[in-house]
Amino acid sequence: MQKKFNSDRYDPLSTERDSLSRRHFIKGVIAAGTVAGAAGLMTGCSDNSNNSASSASVERLVTINVNGRSRPVDVMPNETLAHTLRNKLSLTGTKIGCDRGACGACTVMIDGVTQNSCSILTHTVRKGNVVTVEGVGGVNGQLHPVQTAMIEELAPQCGFCTPGQVVSGVALLQRNPNPTREEVRQALAGNLCRCGAYNNYINAIVNAAGSA
Ligand code: FES
Ligand code: FES
Repeated sequence: MQKKFNSDRYDPLSTERDSLSRRHFIKGVIAAGTVAGAAGLMTGCSDNSNNSASSASVERLVTINVNGRSRPVDVMPNETLAHTLRNKLSLTGTKIGCDRGACGACTVMIDGVTQNSCSILTHTVRKGNVVTVEGVGGVNGQLHPVQTAMIEELAPQCGFCTPGQVVSGVALLQRNPNPTREEVRQALAGNLCRCGAYNNYINAIVNAAGSA
């Protein structure tokens, strides 16, 4: 049944008061966040006190090591590494396909181990060394042998999955310079390719083995 408007009970002043107090509350939240954030910037310390507003804001200011460089960055407590890399550090080689750990497009290395960066919170990698696809080549921009082999093999089709395939291939060759074809296939098992270019990627990494 439809509810009828009761003009006897309608109090325009009360509605205005509610709206004002809500606006006041929102202003207070924004001001508190700004002040706490500024305090964290000035002290640069990690205070684990019980003051939740203060500790949450201090945790946002972190330094992560990416591709051999220390990168200070302001991250939300629930922010994923993929988001930070792409949107805060402009490392857009890391792709986001599913954003839930299922496709491997966001693969990076953390301390030499491949991880789905969409499923890792940035503030948990403060002590790790992150390597993205931008960091696998030489310091002067030379391509990694895996990248060269993928070009020669014409492995990428649309290319969306390629950065993840590259990082998985490089990580494999770092721990196993001469893998079998089956070992390459297993190393790329977490990297989905909508274009179905799996054999091209496997061929490329087999060809790059020994020269990486
Ligand atoms: S975007 Fe991370 S696994 Fe798909
Ligand atoms: S090359 Fe298109 S998704 Fe792999």
